[in-house]
Amino acid sequence: MNIRLFKPSLGTEELEAVKDAFERSWVGLGPKVNEFEEKWAEFVGAKLAIGVNSATAALHLALAAFRFPEGKKVLVPSLTFSATASAILYNRLIPVFVDSDPVTLGMDLEDMKRKYTEDVVAVIPVHYAGHPVPMEKLMPWAGEYGLKVVEDCAHTSGALYKGKALGTWGDIGCYSFEEKKLMTTGDGGMMVTNDPELFKDVKAMRWVGIDKDNWKTAQAYVDANHDALHWFYELNVLGYKYNMNDLAASIGLQQLKKLPAMNARRSQIIQQYLDGLKDVESVKPLLPYEPDNYVYQMFGIRAEKRDELMIYLKSKGIATGCHYTPLSIQPLFRQWGFNCPFIEEEANKFITLPLHAELTDDEISYIIGIIRSYKY
Ligand SMILES: Cc1ncc(COP(=O)(O)O)c(C=O)c1O
Repeated sequence: MNIRLFKPSLGTEELEAVKDAFERSWVGLGPKVNEFEEKWAEFVGAKLAIGVNSATAALHLALAAFRFPEGKKVLVPSLTFSATASAILYNRLIPVFVDSDPVTLGMDLEDMKRKYTEDVVAVIPVHYAGHPVPMEKLMPWAGEYGLKVVEDCAHTSGALYKGKALGTWGDIGCYSFEEKKLMTTGDGGMMVTNDPELFKDVKAMRWVGIDKDNWKTAQAYVDANHDALHWFYELNVLGYKYNMNDLAASIGLQQLKKLPAMNARRSQIIQQYLDGLKDVESVKPLLPYEPDNYVYQMFGIRAEKRDELMIYLKSKGIATGCHYTPLSIQPLFRQWGFNCPFIEEEANKFITLPLHAELTDDEISYIIGIIRSYKY
């Protein structure tokens, strides 16, 4: 056995779509990106979506869209991937790390409230592993203090929470299509909002400062009896090379069609894990999974003898991981850290187990059998 932790599910549909892009000879920022943006906005029920080359870029631009003064503070969970907090530093802002809820591992809202100070301008809830942060509680609180909310949806794509898609509760939602995620474009990301004014400059910011759509509005010059001046562009904002390209968007459009089936398969697998491990004393599911209600990018357990069990699983050909080493103890972030005592200790128990849409029933039974047979 050699079971991967994550694996993209790509097939002939994606290959054909890439072939089409080759044949059109349009592989950069082009019409497929627009098409994918429109489909994604429709899929999550947002007014506007902008395609970028990663969720890291999406998070960077999401905070940049608000033009916060340098040195302001952003509440962010300690239990997340580096990119969530790096986006804060990219914007010359300061991260304020928030501990995790002991049960769901999402942001502990009480700790978040305790850590609020007047310098705080935004909060980035992360739907860790795909489990929703209680947005119905977070949003009114953020509103009360005038805080902007950027949802990190890297681990969820397409889940509804209380009837509303995750990513559309806050001001901006950021999704990831990196290869280990619920669907992939190789690398890629999407930003969504229901406040198009907020994205006024974001199209330019994601493509070197030029809003390609503005080219279409060079109409004004036609009215002045000039030629179309289709070469006209203006630089008004500092931009980055963060755009999604047509190759990625072509893959994304196909993946989006498959997403409901891939999510359904992941839910089945999680249910099999939950059933197969429920009477094993020494391991507990990472969180209160609700596979019928939400979509999960990761399945994990908490185990007292974490390291020994991980080495044993490796010896049996089962890949595992730990998501994550809390950011508040990472050297890069330490100066703002060591303030999330629960998660800084608890994360030592975490094991992420294989989860992807192509895992077979035999493989899942094998993994469960190996965990059950381990002498704790
Ligand atoms: C919670 C979280 N946020 C952001 C990212 C960044 O995503 P990307 O790789 O698309 O930049 C990841 C990627 O693993 C993530 O897990």
